[in-house]
Amino acid sequence: MNKKTHFGYTEVDESEKSNHVGEVFTSVSKSYDIMNDAMSIGMHRLWKKILVELASINEKDIILDIASGTGDIPKLISREYPRTSIFMSDINYEMLDEGRNRAINESFNSNCSFCQLSGEKLPFKNKTFDLITVGFGLRNFTNKEKGLNEMKRCLKKNGKLLILEFSKPINPIFSKIYDWYSFNILPKLGSLLANDSDSYQYLAESIRMHPDQEQLKKMMQDQGYRECKFYNLLNGVVAIHIGSND
Ligand SMILES: C[S@@+](CC[C@H](N)C(=O)[O-])C[C@H]1O[C@@H](n2cnc3c(N)ncnc32)[C@H](O)[C@@H]1O
Repeated sequence: MNKKTHFGYTEVDESEKSNHVGEVFTSVSKSYDIMNDAMSIGMHRLWKKILVELASINEKDIILDIASGTGDIPKLISREYPRTSIFMSDINYEMLDEGRNRAINESFNSNCSFCQLSGEKLPFKNKTFDLITVGFGLRNFTNKEKGLNEMKRCLKKNGKLLILEFSKPINPIFSKIYDWYSFNILPKLGSLLANDSDSYQYLAESIRMHPDQEQLKKMMQDQGYRECKFYNLLNGVVAIHIGSND
């Protein structure tokens, strides 16, 4: 029998998940940036800045950003560290195309390369990168362990992985308000601004199916990352996980 996984709350064959995820991001690619600002009232910008601060980047680092989408994280890194080499990547052509156009239009492409790839099968040699970042991408992987393992393989000794992802709110009352917002407001916003409520229903569901802070930390430790830790943002709605390669 085919192995099963989750696409939001729906159980699907493992072999089908990336197609479903692909349809979501192809559908939202043009309205992705507007929706991000609307959904988080601009807070995603701050979360990404914190990620870049926590990454302790050195001037000549070679950096892979996985699931770059429209390129917010490469843009921040490129602006602050123009001598780094940044590989901006995404599995989805439409999202990467938006990101590459934006990099050219907003002039942060001089130290960026663009690669269409899956974070679960990286086309790079062992120990290539000083830093790997993933912003709101890991949740969509079919096999997160495989992805974490691939990233570790491609990190240099002492290289770091930083994952910015939705997580689990700590305060139970806040959590209830957040659930109400996610399942009532979010799909309506999606319908209004992106003409697509289903993709934002998937977003709300996929967040609930994603491992919480401790589970993700344990997954990283199980893949051999060391010094694993996480920082909660907005009461744990979002967390940044960090791990190092040995
Ligand atoms: C929510 S967007 C995040 C974009 C950007 N990093 C940001 O924070 O704004 C998630 C991205 O993950 C990409 N993605 C999904 N599965 C992936 C995979 N297995 N490998 C690489 N990218 C993937 C999607 O195509 C989409 O562009």
